[in-house]
This record gives sequence, C-alpha cells and structure tokens, in this order.
Amino acid sequence: MYSDLKDQVAVITGSSRGIGRAIAERLAQEQMKVIINYHSNQQEAQEVVEQIEQHGGQAVAVQGDVSQEDDVQNLLHTALQTFGKLDIWINNAGVEKYIPTEKMTLAEWQKVIDINLNGLFLGSMTAIRYFLQHNQIGNVINVSSVHERIPWPGFTNYAVSKSGGKMFTQTIALEYAKRKIRVNSIAPGAINTPINAEKLADAANQKETIALIPMERIGKPEEVAAAAAWLASKESSYVTGATIFVDGGMTLYPAFAEGKG
Ligand code: NAI
Repeated sequence: MYSDLKDQVAVITGSSRGIGRAIAERLAQEQMKVIINYHSNQQEAQEVVEQIEQHGGQAVAVQGDVSQEDDVQNLLHTALQTFGKLDIWINNAGVEKYIPTEKMTLAEWQKVIDINLNGLFLGSMTAIRYFLQHNQIGNVINVSSVHERIPWPGFTNYAVSKSGGKMFTQTIALEYAKRKIRVNSIAPGAINTPINAEKLADAANQKETIALIPMERIGKPEEVAAAAAWLASKESSYVTGATIFVDGGMTLYPAFAEGKG
C-alpha cells in the first residue's frame, strides 16, 4: 500500500475490463478516487464501479472514445466536477487486430493509430494542460506493450502505435520534467485479458505464446496494476521517461536462453 495515494484522483481510460479494470481496482484499494472510462459497454463499467463501491471506494463510469478530443475533455471535466481535481492520468485504452500488411486498408491502419497513439496524445495533453494551468505536480502513465520494442508482423499498426507511444512518452517526459510532471510507460507482455482471450483459449496457441516467455506463464492483470500503483506513488518520485516491462522476461531474447546463439 502507498499511503500518499489516499484521496488522489485518477482517470483511467478503457478501464471497464482487462488491465484497465485491474489498475482501477488497485488504485481504488489505495483509496484513490477513480474515473472508469468505457467505450461501449456501460454495464461492464457499472460493474467495476459497484465492485469498487462495495469495498468502500469511490468511482464513476464515463463513456468516451479516447480518439475524440471532446470525449477526452469530458473525462477531465467529470473528474473535476465529481472529485474536484486530477492527480494521475492513465492512458490504457488500446486495440489490436491481426491483418497482414498487404491486406490492411488505410481505414484499418488509421483506427489503431487513432485509438492507441492519437488517444495517447489527447489524454496526455489534456492532463498536462490541466497540471500546468494549476501549477501542480503531475503524473501520466501510459500502458504500452512489449511491441514498443518487438516487431510484430500482422500487427504493423499496433507495433507502430506502441513504438510511437514510447517516443511520445520519452519526449513529453523531457518536455515537462522541469514542471514536475512525470510521464512513464508500462509495457505488458502476454497478459490474460479479453484482448487475447480467444487466442489463449486455444491450447496450441497458448503453448506457442508461453514458449516466448522465460518465466513460462501468462501474466495477470493485477501484476500490471502493481506497476501502475508504484508509478502512481511517490515511491517512484525520481522516475520519468521510463518503460517498466511487465512481461515475464519476454523482451530478454528468450531464443538465446541456455547459451544459444
Ligand atoms: P482489453 O481489450 O480487455 O481492454 C481494452 C480496453 O480499451 C477495453 O475496455 C476497450 O473498451 C477500451 N477501448 C478500446 N477502444 C477504445 C476507445 N476508442 N476509447 C476508449 N476505450 C477504448 O485489453 P487489455 O489487454 O486490457 O489492454 C489494455 C492495454 O494493454 C492496451 O493498450 C493494450 O494494447 C495493452 N497491452 C495488453 C497486453 C495483453 O496481453 N493483454 C499486452 C501488451 C499491451
């Protein structure tokens, strides 16, 4: 537990399920007040709110598409209306879809860039503008992916969105360090969430994925949320522009294990 997080306010995009939900629940356990942003499933979001409230926490569900500036502004607006301030903004919403590059339409390319990269810009910019206007210490956390580093055929747009997100994170971390605004990324490996539930439900696929992970298991959303709580807290007060890999060693070139190569 991080006592400094008590009564702080966080916006977490795409937090009605998966990693975003785990982050929201973890921050609520830390007694933070949280905005649960959802795109289309209000019931899912409401369940997260109820779950948090049952444990004595405070949360509000807000619909919004992270690729739309007005919707993103509304997330901030709701945080201010409901909880009176903003302390931490977490850009978590993201999508992926397997499409070989030669078959990808411009619209399919654009959709992933709009949500994963433009959404990152809109969320970060909205939060940073607020922190600057209020001369406030600020904290932005971006949920990236091991594919900010590992090329991923069939998911070109996704890999580009995440590697672009890495440079965006580092650049704004540098741009606002003097203003006491920290910006960091968390790069999950293979985590058990709805984004890959179908793939991992297939035993052969799951085996193939596990073969890429030195720790030989799929990660849990709570393990990503633990990194988010640390980055949110003062315990990470000297960390900015970093990517924390939460990937069971996936980025350690597992093919080179046991002295191969
Ligand atoms: P998920 O599919 O369970 O959650 C993604 C969330 O983003 C959903 O709640 C969805 O409604 C929301 N979302 C999608 N488009 C949106 C939009 N336009 N506006 C607002 N919300 C939108 O997937 P998961 O795994 O929880 O993913 C969360 C983040 O973690 C994503 O950025 C993803 O790229 C990243 N990630 C996940 C990994 C995994 O293995 N699960 C691995 C590496 C990164």
